[in-house]
Amino acid sequence: MNSLKNTSLKPYNTFGIVCQASEVIELNMIEEIAEVLRYIKQQNKTLLILGGGSNVLFTRDFNGIVLLNNLKGIQVLSEDSNEVMLTVSAGEVWHDLVLYCIEKNYAGMENLSLIPGKVGASPMQNIGAYGVEVKDLITQVNTIRLADGAKVSFSNEECKFDYRSSIFKTTHKNQYLIVSVDFKLYKSPKLNTSYGAINNELITKGISSPNIKDISEAVISIRRSKLPDPAKIGNAGSFFKNPVVDLTTANRLRKEYPTIPQYEVGENIRKLAAGWLIEQCGWKGKTIDNYGVHKLQALVLVNYNDATGKQIFDLSTKIIDSVKEKFGVELEREVNII
Ligand code: FAD
Ligand code: EPU
Repeated sequence: MNSLKNTSLKPYNTFGIVCQASEVIELNMIEEIAEVLRYIKQQNKTLLILGGGSNVLFTRDFNGIVLLNNLKGIQVLSEDSNEVMLTVSAGEVWHDLVLYCIEKNYAGMENLSLIPGKVGASPMQNIGAYGVEVKDLITQVNTIRLADGAKVSFSNEECKFDYRSSIFKTTHKNQYLIVSVDFKLYKSPKLNTSYGAINNELITKGISSPNIKDISEAVISIRRSKLPDPAKIGNAGSFFKNPVVDLTTANRLRKEYPTIPQYEVGENIRKLAAGWLIEQCGWKGKTIDNYGVHKLQALVLVNYNDATGKQIFDLSTKIIDSVKEKFGVELEREVNII
């Protein structure tokens, strides 16, 4: 068991927030889990599991144990001429898994290219991008229950996946260590180019019959054109969820703001673009000292240089308040606040 006391968490969160944890433990092998859990219980400290730290905001030092999940391994569980089932350890880097699948010609993950973080966090908020959510590919999530060390697997249905949500972020929050995720992928691609920007990118590149690698590369270029690279500018992707409203609210807003983007997600339910709402409130590109709102994507809050998590949190509260005042719509934070 590899453990470090009073350690800086700056290298472990993509916001680049400077803060400390009482202790950081690296989990490198599945055989170490029982020992690690016993140790954590003995210490009687709060536990925080981290993958790539790309969806967290530390607002203070963490007075507890941070468990870094480095469990590695990709295994084929079964395959036939149409499908392949993989089981992937939680510490694998998500984009490396996407590239592995593209290399093997296993289709399904290509629209989820370049999402930062690790495989273990992918079911947490049901990661999604460009018309695909990981719930479309997950068959089972394999965990260890922290309370008693029991192995518990959750089927896709049991995970209760929803837009940026699952039981691991709601009813079962902080109760399970995800150790691996099982995926079903396809040997003949069912390409999803429903997101307009992908088609535009393919047209620009002169590609008329794309393969999964072409889709992945199109997604990567779109992402690079508007999302800040956490290696250069601290951020955690979209800070807020896109709000979901009823039809009456959607119609009221459309009347007042005819150009407001709205997406149908159910008969009487519409999703709004939080980025658009925030931009209309004048926040896009706003910089306060060393932090602010990204200039190309208003949903992304950024840390240019050693801002505190508290400053970024307070900025997010101001944004929530101004969107509520102008549009009567309540934004919800997507990022996990610690
Ligand atoms: P972490 O930030 O380490 O953890 C996130 C949460 O999951 C925490 O609550 C943590 O305790 C918990 N957790 C992590 N691993 C485990 C585990 N093994 N067991 C139990 N709990 C665990 N997200 C999208 O959905 N779509 C996008 O397009 C997208 N784009 C992004 C772009 C950028 C530039 C950035 C910085 C982030 C983006 N994100 C996006 C958010 C982020 O990449 C995802 O949420 C990702 O899945 C987080 O993975 P992680 O390993 O970094 O998780
Ligand atoms: N928009 C603006 N101004 C902005 C940003 C967006 O007007 O500053 C408008 C766009 O013009 C467009 C709409 O909002 O009409 C949607 O924008 P975009 O396609 O960029 O997607 P998004 O809704 O802002 C969501 C996800 C992203 C994901 C992309 C692509 C959420 C909270 N965010 O962003 O996920 O990559 O779609 O599918 O659902 C993340 O979760 O961290 C993340 C980056």
